[in-house]
Amino acid sequence: MSNGYAIENWSPAQPIYNKLHYLTSQPIYCVDDEELKKDLEYFETKCAKSKEITTEAKNYIPGGVQHNLAFNYPFPICITKAEGAYLYDLDGNKYFDFLQAGGPTILGSNYPAVREKAIQLINECGPVTGLFHEAELLLAKEINKHMPGCEMFRMLGSGTESVMAAIRVARNATKNKRIIKVGGAYHGWSDQMVYGLKIPGSRAFLESFGIPKGAYSTTDEVRPNDLNMLEQMLKVNKLRGGTAAVLVEPVGPESGTRPVDFDYNKGVRELCDKYGALFIMDEVVTGFRIGLGGAQGYFGVTPDLTIFGKVVAGGYPSAGGVGGKKEFVSGMAAGVGTMMKRAYVGGTLAANPLSAFAGYTAIQEIEKTNACEKAGKAGDRITAGLQGLIDKYSLPFVAYNQGSICHLECSGAMSYDFSSMFLPNSVIPMLKAKPEMLRRKVAMEQMGAAYMAHGIVTLAGSRLYTSLADTDEVVDEALNHFEDVFKTVTKCTRNLDK
Ligand SMILES: Cc1ncc(COP(=O)(O)O)c(C=O)c1O
Repeated sequence: MSNGYAIENWSPAQPIYNKLHYLTSQPIYCVDDEELKKDLEYFETKCAKSKEITTEAKNYIPGGVQHNLAFNYPFPICITKAEGAYLYDLDGNKYFDFLQAGGPTILGSNYPAVREKAIQLINECGPVTGLFHEAELLLAKEINKHMPGCEMFRMLGSGTESVMAAIRVARNATKNKRIIKVGGAYHGWSDQMVYGLKIPGSRAFLESFGIPKGAYSTTDEVRPNDLNMLEQMLKVNKLRGGTAAVLVEPVGPESGTRPVDFDYNKGVRELCDKYGALFIMDEVVTGFRIGLGGAQGYFGVTPDLTIFGKVVAGGYPSAGGVGGKKEFVSGMAAGVGTMMKRAYVGGTLAANPLSAFAGYTAIQEIEKTNACEKAGKAGDRITAGLQGLIDKYSLPFVAYNQGSICHLECSGAMSYDFSSMFLPNSVIPMLKAKPEMLRRKVAMEQMGAAYMAHGIVTLAGSRLYTSLADTDEVVDEALNHFEDVFKTVTKCTRNLDK
């Protein structure tokens, strides 16, 4: 592997979709009853302190846990130490860390060189002053060096805010109204983006509670990896206020859970140009993970606006920002009042010196250590190993990866797709399928708990992020632990209804 990117060979999308469809056509497979009992015993006996503290937390924190990625079956685990490829919990148990905080720590958790610079900066000026710090310029220049399409960069507090800002810029620049996203994609939790979340075609039916209809009435979703449908939507939108922007996760919705073909992004670029919409590439996950040039470098496509998050603050808080062409990004100029019609954005802690300096340092370290490529190699190794185990135990599971973003679909809870029924009555097939989807989600949680009881932390039991810290030895040892789980998997006969 020597292309500087995490992905040597791009896999075509359709064979993966075929496997995912096959998975959901099969009965549910999960760890057997005896194994589940042992796993639950592990939590009761070996994680007693975590249980105690997270039980108390339920009185003060909704659901007892603040983060969507924090495992909560059978109860959340309280982590006290993170180091490279490993996490340690309050009871002293050690885990392989394939969550990597949900993506930001491509260098591995708590990377010393970044930590040292962060401490140095805090010693000098504290984390925040509200005034300009050189680190802001250093980070913006560093991003521009690797992604020349990001001529300017406005740093914000999170990916969610950055998507909101980019949409505002797009509407301001094009004077068009509508936003097209790809069904199933995650672009943060703003009112207009919690639409078509997780499941393509689900529109407002799965998660858009507490959001007035008007907030997402100018958002459209299209089928993943389908340029024809995108063009149809762009055409229809010409009669409905025009399309301000098309937003994509470049490796496919939900961090590539629903993959795209290599030329998909190029096709989106061409369609945006043809219909006068801005192309917003959401690189929150892929930026400085797929490669230093991001997915835009890998696919050779320059978007109008790029969304950053996660790695952009090197694993430190307040990770977000919008990069892109000067003509658009300058439409978010900060400062007290301007005479231009700017897209207003802000944030008290946005672009604080700590986040900016940690991000700048992390990107330099990623370059120095060739972290993207190495983490990608680890992703290939673990995916190949998981596939070997899937074959060995004749399971219907599906393993695939885009470099260091690895997917392990065991129940197919995330593989549903209602996008063939985008038309008004799509709610009926969805309601019919919902109980089975929920059972598959329970199976996914039980698999996640089994991995954890065997010392492996994953993202929701279905995704693994690899990092620079994942040497061959780490990956091979982790695969042994996966095998201990896979060995016990059978066709599930227990009741999975909640
Ligand atoms: C592709 C993508 N966009 C946007 C976001 C939102 O970023 P944040 O969690 O920083 O608000 C995420 C978060 O996981 C993401 O994966």
